[in-house]
Amino acid sequence: MATLNYFPCTATLSHPPSRPTFPKPPSHRLQISSSIPEKKNTDIETNSNSQPKVDRRNMLLGLGSGGLYGAANLVINPRDSSATPIQAPVLDSCGVATNLNNNKELDINCCPPTTDRIVDYRVPPVFQMKMRPSAHRVSPEYIFKYNMAIDRMKRLPKDDPRNFFQQANIHCAYCNGAYKQQEGQDGPDPSKFLQVHNSWLFFPFHRWYLYFYERILGKLINDPTFALPFWNWDNPKGMTIPPMFLDERSALYDKKRNKDSMPPAVVDLGLTDIKDPLQLVTNNLTIMYSEMIRGNADVYGFMGKAYRQGDAPNQGPGSVERGSHTCVHWWVGDPNQPTREDLGNFYSAGRDPLFYCHHANVDRMWTLWQYFIPSNKVPDKRITDPDFLNASFLFYDENAQLVRVTVQDCLDNLRMGYEFERIDLPWLDYRPPAQTVGARVRRANTKSAQPNTVFPLKLDQIVRVLVQKTKKGKADEVLVLEDMEVDTSKLLKFDVFVNDEDDNVFELDKAAYLGTYAQLPHKSGTNSTVKTSISLKLTDLYKDMDNIDDDETVLVTLVPRNQGGGVTIGNIKIIEAPPPANKPAA
Ligand code: C2O
Repeated sequence: MATLNYFPCTATLSHPPSRPTFPKPPSHRLQISSSIPEKKNTDIETNSNSQPKVDRRNMLLGLGSGGLYGAANLVINPRDSSATPIQAPVLDSCGVATNLNNNKELDINCCPPTTDRIVDYRVPPVFQMKMRPSAHRVSPEYIFKYNMAIDRMKRLPKDDPRNFFQQANIHCAYCNGAYKQQEGQDGPDPSKFLQVHNSWLFFPFHRWYLYFYERILGKLINDPTFALPFWNWDNPKGMTIPPMFLDERSALYDKKRNKDSMPPAVVDLGLTDIKDPLQLVTNNLTIMYSEMIRGNADVYGFMGKAYRQGDAPNQGPGSVERGSHTCVHWWVGDPNQPTREDLGNFYSAGRDPLFYCHHANVDRMWTLWQYFIPSNKVPDKRITDPDFLNASFLFYDENAQLVRVTVQDCLDNLRMGYEFERIDLPWLDYRPPAQTVGARVRRANTKSAQPNTVFPLKLDQIVRVLVQKTKKGKADEVLVLEDMEVDTSKLLKFDVFVNDEDDNVFELDKAAYLGTYAQLPHKSGTNSTVKTSISLKLTDLYKDMDNIDDDETVLVTLVPRNQGGGVTIGNIKIIEAPPPANKPAA
């Protein structure tokens, strides 16, 4: 196992670990990169619900030259017709959110309080770095403070946007169809749902969400250094629900959780439903290795696919989102609740304090991927597309001020003022053992369906498909599952194996395991069915299989985990890996 970054320190609030013990982040991190495209068209304007917008740059200018709005009336940019980032929702137009249960629609009201005043948010200068601790390693003092902060959040007036349930509703509104996409000046388009999952918005949205949540908690206990704990489910020592969430008298407790997932149950990042703790741990480490290192052909494979104004939601989730992230939600959610509340459904997930601890680790995965995984192990790490960088969201900050934030302002956790306790990353080199495949594939050839006759393929049982490689002997290839129709009202989960040798679908710690698609029930459109796609890098898998270069086809095995149903795959193909793009200058 790798022992990189192991520092046996205990993070407490009173004694933050000192900087010098940690590896220095790359030097570019604290600078604002000049290559990030300028923000467009956010100058002073009045939008359809007459909420005045204030451009952040004008605020900066104004502050520098003696007046907050000193430069505000200088320019009104015409809207750039090619720029189509997802825009922050208009709160006044927030409608009912929908939870689907066996195709019965259940309406939920989770709209936030509205206000006329929106401020474009500027990340304050960082004077003291917050240290997010591993939830299994915190001190009793830390737990006491955290509990007190959540308790106070629950006691805030119901209509205070910082109230615990208002905070939980943020997730519901952004994820269950309460908001529609803004169409330029014309206001929201009722047919286009705003959805922050299953695309490149996933990491940025949740980062901002936790950022303000953390600041609100800090304010409530008068401790600006307060930092959320992360549930370290990627490390064997963190693979149970952190103890602080289990005390029934604590504000951190939530009774809507799966009884079978209480410690010592080991988290099942693959939802394979096995009980052997050792196999679960090895599966989990393999999954993390696959999501973080092995399975992504390009930056979108990790981050999620592009999602712009006008697009249908669910363009395609990134590896962590559609894998470990979703599985933890489902694993904790209570199977005895109608739709697996709380964590097992987007509309209710934020009602369990454990949600924010889970997502702190998801956020940590993004940081690790950006700054700690050697760049020769993964593809390019940056998205420079202005539609990504200029996408925006609304949140209430710790002072109950409604603020607009952009993706480009959340790309660097250090600039936002927090970092993570350094913990061993045992998955970093958790490469499965190589396998010999030749004979097995020949056997499989004879009993497998031919691709052109099986599509569209309904995934209600284990299926095997032969897929043509691009060019004989060419190793840099990507497996694409496209035109996937997914039923968003259900939990969906299936695993993908290539040239599987032993057909044991409960062991993921083998070369044949390629990746996962998993999704929680949510609402993404007027229909419950949406189209999506995923791409999985084959390069490293090929390296771990003997003789595969000589084959013209590979055998793809798809294993549904959710009692089947809900997924129809339009096509499976193998393409050449995309050339490295956006390579940052060394
Ligand atoms: Cu917004 Cu883990 O979900």
